[in-house]
Amino acid sequence: MSKVALVTGGTGGIGSAVCKRLAAAGFKVISTYFEPEEQAKAWAEKQDFAVGLYHCNVSDYDSCVKLKQAIEADGLNVDVIVNNAGITRDAKFSKMTYDMWRAVLSTNLDSLFNISHQFVDGMTERGWGRIINISSVNGQKGQAGQTNYSAAKAGVHGFTMALAQEVVRKGVTVNTISPGYIGTEMVMAIREDVREKIVAQIPMQRLGKPEEIAAVANFLASDDAAFITGADFSANGGQYMH
Ligand code: CAA
Ligand code: NAP
Repeated sequence: MSKVALVTGGTGGIGSAVCKRLAAAGFKVISTYFEPEEQAKAWAEKQDFAVGLYHCNVSDYDSCVKLKQAIEADGLNVDVIVNNAGITRDAKFSKMTYDMWRAVLSTNLDSLFNISHQFVDGMTERGWGRIINISSVNGQKGQAGQTNYSAAKAGVHGFTMALAQEVVRKGVTVNTISPGYIGTEMVMAIREDVREKIVAQIPMQRLGKPEEIAAVANFLASDDAAFITGADFSANGGQYMH
């Protein structure tokens, strides 16, 4: 029977590519959606692979409990989680509101607790699992205008390393991917002149492609990556090396 991969925010730019790649690798792929159901269904119809859709607000614990119940009611166990849903609310720190801080921390970091907590015990009991957390180059190096996002994304890898140690003897690996600037709506929302300056600072002189992140996720989900846990994979066109 196919293993089940849950991708949060699978309807977004990177998420869509991750869903496609995991489906091609033989996983049964399910994705959360946050937008109206019709929009998510329209997205699913456009894809050239099968994907199950479940509503979830990853920043809300109760919503994640309901997600687990809905998935179980469909007779599925989650074997792979890609914690991918995320948002930005950029502003220089003095202009950042408390709401901007909370929205980013809860969507990008609390979500790892909210989602992983539902499924990690099932993985350890079955003796196989993969948790793949999407951080960012800006969690590694910090980015002006993103105190909220950089803090949340730095926290992602702390979570990865701690949980990896707890489940390491139970066949479950936990890893981070830290993408650089990838050509999705999130990056295209940056003011053009600011974005051009950022791209000019990337040694490869281009934005990354969602497929280039999906390839790393696919590897980490595979049996080939069985000996890798607590690691942070950078894919950033040389923007930050450490
Ligand atoms: N380094 C140092 N200071 C910077 C800076 C930088 N890179 N960018 C902006 N600033 C400072 C300016 O010097 C200026 O300071 P003063 O007020 O003291 O003169 C101040 O920020 C300007 O801020 P303003 O509020 O006046 O407004 P702005 O229109 O310039 O917007 C901003 C500020 C929202 C931070 C804007 O510069 C911006 O969008 N920057 C890009 C942030 C970024 O990289 N976001 C990534 C989004 S995509 C993503 O997050 C995906 C991922 O993981 C890679
Ligand atoms: P995107 O296209 O904007 O997709 C983000 C996805 O997250 C969307 O599907 C969105 O759903 C979902 N989402 C947002 N808030 C949610 C919530 N509260 N509950 C459930 N789902 C929610 O962005 P992306 O570029 O693909 O980013 C995906 C991940 O990669 C994020 O974690 C991001 O921080 C990270 N990342 C991106 C880049 C980049 O350059 N693009 C670089 C490094 C890291 P709706 O559309 O329904 O709101």
